Amino acid sequence: MRIIIANKSHASYAEIICKNIEESAKVRGTGIARRTPEYIIDKMEKGNAIIALDGEKFAGFCYIETWSHEKYVANSGLIVHPDYRKQGLAKDIKQVIFDHSRKKYPHAKIFGITTGLAVMKINYELGYQPVTFSELTDDESFWKGCQTCKNYDVLTRTEHKMCLCTGMLYDPEKKAEAKKKNNKVSKFNDKAFQRLKHIKQTLFYKKEKAEKE
Ligand SMILES: CC(C)(COP(=O)(O)OP(=O)(O)OC[C@H]1O[C@@H](n2cnc3c(N)ncnc32)[C@H](O)[C@@H]1OP(=O)(O)O)[C@@H](O)C(=O)NCCC(=O)NCCS
Repeated sequence: MRIIIANKSHASYAEIICKNIEESAKVRGTGIARRTPEYIIDKMEKGNAIIALDGEKFAGFCYIETWSHEKYVANSGLIVHPDYRKQGLAKDIKQVIFDHSRKKYPHAKIFGITTGLAVMKINYELGYQPVTFSELTDDESFWKGCQTCKNYDVLTRTEHKMCLCTGMLYDPEKKAEAKKKNNKVSKFNDKAFQRLKHIKQTLFYKKEKAEKE
């Protein structure tokens, strides 16, 4: 398995990447920010994407987005082909894109929003912390990306304060501070995250149902 920084020679994989992202969103029944092949190719050409290949076969992908004049970086669109799941590939891709982001944008805060427990766990192990949406970028174009998500009405209803996704942030300055103090990071508590997700679903979907009635 090769996990590499993609370039224009990988443009032929853009269609299969978009198809994989769309199909997995259907299976999960959750929202997702839809992307076009042209968008993916642009990321590859700018050296802002990571691709995993098993020989010539597509195995996984993730890309970098920058917001608020590169003060914030998001590692988005993580996808692992169903044939390669549960083997640690997402973890490896996220590590590579995290290292690449830190090198290319050393002062940027790295963030993500997700409903996926696997992603929360990986992010947490990379040093991200769960935060409120107010600590993430206020760049409107980032939040516009949520418009294609089926939960977008929740985000607008709460005036962008919360949604089904959990926001997670890696702040390089806070990390350096913590390192100095030699703070130990506690283990990822997946039960707590699962419970949080369940509470949000109950809260938002109930309200949605009541409003429709
Ligand atoms: C989510 C996804 C990227 C995980 O890929 P993967 O290669 O199977 O993940 P890994 O094998 O690296 O697993 C990482 C960790 O998450 C856990 N995990 C994996 N899938 C999980 C799931 N569905 N639910 C809960 N935990 C999960 C693994 O057990 C592992 O934990 P461990 O380190 O304690 O063993 C993959 O299932 C996928 O592409 N899903 C569809 C797209 C998607 O949801 N993208 C995320 C958008 S935010």
